[in-house]
Amino acid sequence: MTIALPARAKLNLDLAVLRRRDDGYHDIRTTLQAIDLHDLVTLTPAQETTLTITGLPVKNTKDNTILKAHALLEQATKKKLPTEIHLHKNIPAGAGMGGASSDAATALRGLAAIHHVNADLHGIASQIGSDVPFFLIGGTAIADQRGDHLTPVPTNPQWFAIAWPGIELLTPDVYRAWDTVPGKISEAMPNQLTEAALTVEPNLREFAKSLGPTWRMTGSGSAYFCHCADEASARNITAGLKCWTAVAQAVGPWGE
Ligand code: C5P
Repeated sequence: MTIALPARAKLNLDLAVLRRRDDGYHDIRTTLQAIDLHDLVTLTPAQETTLTITGLPVKNTKDNTILKAHALLEQATKKKLPTEIHLHKNIPAGAGMGGASSDAATALRGLAAIHHVNADLHGIASQIGSDVPFFLIGGTAIADQRGDHLTPVPTNPQWFAIAWPGIELLTPDVYRAWDTVPGKISEAMPNQLTEAALTVEPNLREFAKSLGPTWRMTGSGSAYFCHCADEASARNITAGLKCWTAVAQAVGPWGE
């Protein structure tokens, strides 16, 4: 049996950084919104575990979050789960859209299904990364603490235009910059990592300026998005931009 699962991206509709913790992480409060832009994870039981990747470039296949998810699930279930895995990337890396996290969560769900194993997927997901647990449920959620304590809220139908300047930002760099450049949260800048990201990557300031005041950064950057009235206006807006763009709509929780 082969299964193919969409690994959907997210946008942070807002993001407040509350404090730096003793363990080096930061307590945050953010609204996570799943969108229909997605990678594709294909899983087939096999003799041994392999991972192949197509689509947008991925720097390091060996450290891929999917392989981390696979190893942790094997550990938790004390079983070998040999699987031929293929990942097709549509979500740019280092963009703040959670692509690698979503790939990991999707692999966990898919591997548990094809190998008929049970495990604490939420626990494994939060070991892989702070926003991985969100991708087990999707929809819309308020995320607290490291970003892994989730409170689902209703999903509003929404369209987004997304623009990515091709700059890969590393999440730890942006959080470290926040320690010295905390920035203020406001209606015009609902993501409190924005100033920190602009400090890490000054070229991003010019990009943000060229987009205009209605655009917001997602996560730790560097992609920006704006709310659009409908699909046509989102397509209209992205058609005029000379960078990687996408039109996406909000999606509700995955369900079982
Ligand atoms: O949890 P994740 O592996 O995605 O985090 C990557 C890095 O980003 C952490 O090692 C930490 O430096 C930073 N981070 C943070 N506070 C968070 C989430 C991430 O400081 N809430």
